[in-house]
Amino acid sequence: MFWPHKHILDIAQFTLEEINYLFSLAENFFEINSRQIKKVPVLKRKSVVLFFAEPSTRTKTSFDMAAKRLSADTFSLSASSSSLKKGETLKDTALTLRAMNPDAIVMRHSQSGASSFLSRHLDISILNAGDGWHAHPTQALLDAFSLYRHWSTFQNKTVLFIGDIAHSRVARSGIALLSLLGASIRICAPRTLLPPDIKNYPVQIFSDLHSACCDVDAVICLRLQLERQAAALFPDFHEYAQKFCLTGRHLQSANPKALLLHPGPMNRGIEIESALADSSKSIILDQVASGVAMRMTLLYLLLAGSKNEMEGKNNVHHSGP
Ligand code: CP
Repeated sequence: MFWPHKHILDIAQFTLEEINYLFSLAENFFEINSRQIKKVPVLKRKSVVLFFAEPSTRTKTSFDMAAKRLSADTFSLSASSSSLKKGETLKDTALTLRAMNPDAIVMRHSQSGASSFLSRHLDISILNAGDGWHAHPTQALLDAFSLYRHWSTFQNKTVLFIGDIAHSRVARSGIALLSLLGASIRICAPRTLLPPDIKNYPVQIFSDLHSACCDVDAVICLRLQLERQAAALFPDFHEYAQKFCLTGRHLQSANPKALLLHPGPMNRGIEIESALADSSKSIILDQVASGVAMRMTLLYLLLAGSKNEMEGKNNVHHSGP
């Protein structure tokens, strides 16, 4: 399949056919990641900058590992150790990084639209690793890929997002992707944590968690975005947890095979009952494994020069070291 994208900025850029193509390629990379020797030479001599101007454990490590497993070199820059601290603009920092001639920049930034801004000013691939409240496309792709590996289809599936929808780039991207794939989407949150334009979302809204969980096939618990003023929008954690912390009791009315996801980092006992997070229903650690495979897929599609040749003659599945 011809891959038309130079950047990964938002779920809205993809067609359904492209998403299914990503899933089929990601299966190959998932298999590579289960081998004893996980490195393949498809991005040898390519370099990737990991520019994280906000904290990250999962996304940064996952992109780093993905690039290295494809044999690319990676270079990390964080806001605290960059000249952004000294007043340098984002554009000047980006142009400086560009002058070092990397092949791609993976960027996380607190400002919505920051990755898109970079893509307009630089002539290399930009991958959005989370921009403000706006989008986290690779998280949505890895969440959907995790579900796809269990379900194979999203038809007749209902997915419930719980918690801080208003400040969540994970929810925005996840809702867009899962509805494109054909799932029905529910959300359950305090009214103060719903986005003002909620009526434009393709979702059913619930305020009672027991009703929201009835017959659902998957639940995605969201992190309370405390750094984005969420704490001021509900009385206290205890009260929030009483109404919106997912417990085993809530899941009694769900599909008995319901799956449980959380993008992390988790606030145990506030967003999700600790034992439930560790239960057999939880695919939280599968999400992490899917993330590496999905990010390998995206880097491969953006950066491997002769990608179509690779797929035709020398499938990634067989391109071991
Ligand atoms: N899910 C996610 O974006 O986690 P990190 O903030 O640890 O990257």
